[in-house]
Amino acid sequence: MASPVYSSPEWYLKAQDKDVSSDIGRLTIYHLGFKQAAGGTLLFAPLEFSSAPRAVLDVGTADGLWMREVQSTIPAPPEGDHTFIGTDINTSFFPSTSMKNITYVKQDIKDPTPEVWNHAFDLVNLRMILIAAGSGVAQRAVVNEHIKLVKPGGWIQIGDCDRVCPTSEAENPRYHDMFACIRAVCQSSGLDPLEAPKMKSWLEEAGLEQVQERTAMRAVGKRNADEELGKLGIGADLMIAKGFAAGAKGLSPSFKPLPDERLDSLVQELETELTETGAYFPMRFIWARKPF
Ligand SMILES: C[S@@+](CC[C@H](N)C(=O)[O-])C[C@H]1O[C@@H](n2cnc3c(N)ncnc32)[C@H](O)[C@@H]1O
Repeated sequence: MASPVYSSPEWYLKAQDKDVSSDIGRLTIYHLGFKQAAGGTLLFAPLEFSSAPRAVLDVGTADGLWMREVQSTIPAPPEGDHTFIGTDINTSFFPSTSMKNITYVKQDIKDPTPEVWNHAFDLVNLRMILIAAGSGVAQRAVVNEHIKLVKPGGWIQIGDCDRVCPTSEAENPRYHDMFACIRAVCQSSGLDPLEAPKMKSWLEEAGLEQVQERTAMRAVGKRNADEELGKLGIGADLMIAKGFAAGAKGLSPSFKPLPDERLDSLVQELETELTETGAYFPMRFIWARKPF
């Protein structure tokens, strides 16, 4: 059997004992890009931190960068402490040095959560993790399971990408091809890559209130006004393109998105496209409150 495609859910399932430092580097660059695209916002849900200690759960936390940054920017409560729990299937991502009030727990999103977590969190954050659940039905079930963990009056916040190039094919032919490879590899393993636009309605239909959505375009290469971050973004996207182009090449003809010669030239031509034209990687952030 072919080895799993880098950064795909199957790869993460098998990354338990692997050196994941290069993936942490890539995820850090993505994190900085999403933050820049959202004008510096990591917390979309308007949870108030200054009046009481809050409990936050970050699902698929990797090395906990989102939690650590949020913790360092929120006001302290009058008494007690805000607490953070980060879950991930791969303990190799967890930082070796601990930070006060941040706990890391090994947990597969597809498994039942500990009963003590029911109605226990003021905020549950799920960023770039739902595809790991599999089909659209399974992703929605995971969202519903995590809504159960939110306290009445608390918030859920989802970040997911559209996996479709937002600019025209004339402008970004090879970025279109990269997303075609990502979609094909996902679909060939029963993962639905096009669920993000539906997630707002999932929260509405679950009975949540104040449901909101915001799009944030991570600027890559020439599109980024911050030249350094733009350049780092090229490297991060080329890691993805390399893995998924190789994965797409091994697919059966019914799933293969492009002829082999286009797959073979993808990484090199994408590097030129991102350097000379740049591109946008589309993220959606969706958040909603659980009624009292
Ligand atoms: C694309 S990264 C996103 C990391 C982080 N949430 C962020 O936004 O930067 C996906 C993370 O989910 C974890 N993961 C993959 N499959 C998982 C599963 N079935 N259950 C829990 N975590 C999983 C991976 O180990 C990885 O840390």
